[in-house]
Amino acid sequence: MINIAIDGYSSCGKSTLAKALARTLGYIYIDTGAMYRAVALYALDHGLIHPDGTMDKEGLINALPSLHIDFEYSKDSGQSDVLLNGVSVESRIRNIQVAELASRISQLRAVRNKLQQLQRAIAQKKGVVMDGRDIGTVIMPDAELKIFMTADPEIRAKRRFEELKAAGKEISLDEVRNNQAIRDYEDTHRTEDPLRQAADALVLDNSALSPDEQLKLALDWVKKKSKQAIEV
Ligand code: DC
Repeated sequence: MINIAIDGYSSCGKSTLAKALARTLGYIYIDTGAMYRAVALYALDHGLIHPDGTMDKEGLINALPSLHIDFEYSKDSGQSDVLLNGVSVESRIRNIQVAELASRISQLRAVRNKLQQLQRAIAQKKGVVMDGRDIGTVIMPDAELKIFMTADPEIRAKRRFEELKAAGKEISLDEVRNNQAIRDYEDTHRTEDPLRQAADALVLDNSALSPDEQLKLALDWVKKKSKQAIEV
């Protein structure tokens, strides 16, 4: 077994690929974005975001010790749900408001330290597929396979728009485009662990690939990297 780190922009299909890889290989899948989203939801639920949109950073940092993030396998979805203080928040974190806030709170060093500690502990095992922004560069720099995912911005926006529409969310394509542009900028320009391609990452541009095609390509890479890992 090897470890697989997947990084890339938002709405690039990282979680689709990561879940498919974990299912096919029998590996554990860790969605680190869900952890940042859960902290963002906590901030919203606890009045740490003021009506004018500003954030009570100090309040959030002070609350971090009492905030517990975990994963639990859900028989309903066949996947792992993220738990915030013991309660599944999966259904509440998949929206644009939480996504935007997650991008903001992920810029705070104290938040990153807390979540990264958890992520590093999970990465001690082999057979982990983890996706996020800093997995190949910071969390699993020794992962045998690192994938950096990218796709044409317009294709990404349309895919995310269709997904949100199918989930019954009322949102326009323009709003999705704007949210994506803001998050791309913030995720790549922040001081703390910005999204970067690791020097030894393999680039997967899925603009013209179906989910099955990208899985096949990634499985070929897994095969190669597993062989190399045995030979070393
Ligand atoms: O992958 P996602 O869209 O669910 O992530 C939500 C936000 O969390 C993203 O905009 C940036 C942040 N994030 C991060 O800073 N580091 C990670 N490893 C994962 C996500």
